[in-house]
Amino acid sequence: MKVPLLDLKPQYNLLKKELDEALLRVAESQYFILGPEVDKMEKDFCSYLKCEHALGVSSGTDALLIALMAVDIKPGDEVIVPAYSFFATAGVVARLNAIPVFTDIDPVTFNINPAGFEKKISSKTKAVIPVHLYGQSCDMDPIIEVAKKHNIKVIEDAAQAIGVQYKDGKYVGTIGDIGCFSFFPSKNLGGFGDGGLVTTNDKELADKLKVLRVHGGHPKYYHKIIGGNFRLDAIQAAVISVKLPHLTAWSEARRKNAQLYNKFFIDAKLAERTGQISFDNKNKVLLPKAIYNADSRKSQILNPKSDIVNYHIYNQYIIRIQKRDETREFLLKNNIGTEIYYPVPFHLQECFNYLGYKKGDFPESEKASDTSLALPIFPELTEEQIKYVVGKIGEFIL
Ligand SMILES: Cc1ncc(COP(=O)(O)O)c(C=O)c1O
Repeated sequence: MKVPLLDLKPQYNLLKKELDEALLRVAESQYFILGPEVDKMEKDFCSYLKCEHALGVSSGTDALLIALMAVDIKPGDEVIVPAYSFFATAGVVARLNAIPVFTDIDPVTFNINPAGFEKKISSKTKAVIPVHLYGQSCDMDPIIEVAKKHNIKVIEDAAQAIGVQYKDGKYVGTIGDIGCFSFFPSKNLGGFGDGGLVTTNDKELADKLKVLRVHGGHPKYYHKIIGGNFRLDAIQAAVISVKLPHLTAWSEARRKNAQLYNKFFIDAKLAERTGQISFDNKNKVLLPKAIYNADSRKSQILNPKSDIVNYHIYNQYIIRIQKRDETREFLLKNNIGTEIYYPVPFHLQECFNYLGYKKGDFPESEKASDTSLALPIFPELTEEQIKYVVGKIGEFIL
């Protein structure tokens, strides 16, 4: 059996007629950048995410960059980011000659640890970027509370989390000052190339984002501020508009697949060995033994608060496993695609040597980098394929 990490073909086949029509419509219009297709998509997102303003931008990375520019991040300012995320989260801070200040993650959710984040705040701190990693919300209440207390901006990196709801049906990306999304093709809502979105409920910020998107010119060719080319192509907007109505069904299918994995891991008595988080009947989470054998928290039981309140969309389904690289090799030999997100935490990246961090500074991020493995989770995966993946993992580790 073959189980690719991701197969986008079934999604294209499902919507082929509408997608092809949308592409042709853009070709016929010869209106390629921003314009009516982007306007329509932005309106659709305002209704879907229940927010005041949504702006299409050139990528998720540019969404983060323009957001930091909009809240006036200047050289020497400090911006707090988790030590474990996709590179863009920290890269955009450094590109503005600001200082990325790293903070450790929560071992259960992989997301920023709110208590740890407050300790990193200094007089130079201007913003924090909570990342809703793998499609699960950060625990936003304490983050917003701390940010308000210290008067710092919250830029949500929701690149992997479109459609994730935190509490009371509130969508991530609409809770902080600015939300940033990516339409990279492997995301739950992917375009036919690069694309992204910024969201805000603040009119002043929305106006500034709009100007920054077109080099900071307002009116055109008159510049009070310096922006960039952060414009979204009409083709991407047209594709996203076709796909958006299907997003909920796709997220539901991913959630169902995740439940199947959980069930098969538990049935095979692999849950603890793989580090897959399992729940007992009181909704307590059992921390994976395989990960914690080496330290004193071997059999600690935690209540994962943010896990219970949020609607996880499983952009990735991550297990944590000892002998991760060997397992991955074995799965590859058995035609199962996997990926390692992210093998090196930020504080150990060569490009950030100048910040003076060292190994051991963020133990949870380092453990996540050493033990995480992404398994196939795309919506069209079959139950047989999931069973096969779990079976092969069992064959290797038992
Ligand atoms: C957490 C996170 N932030 C930012 C980005 C950047 O998005 P893009 O690839 O659209 O630039 C990604 C994309 O992989 C991401 O996963």
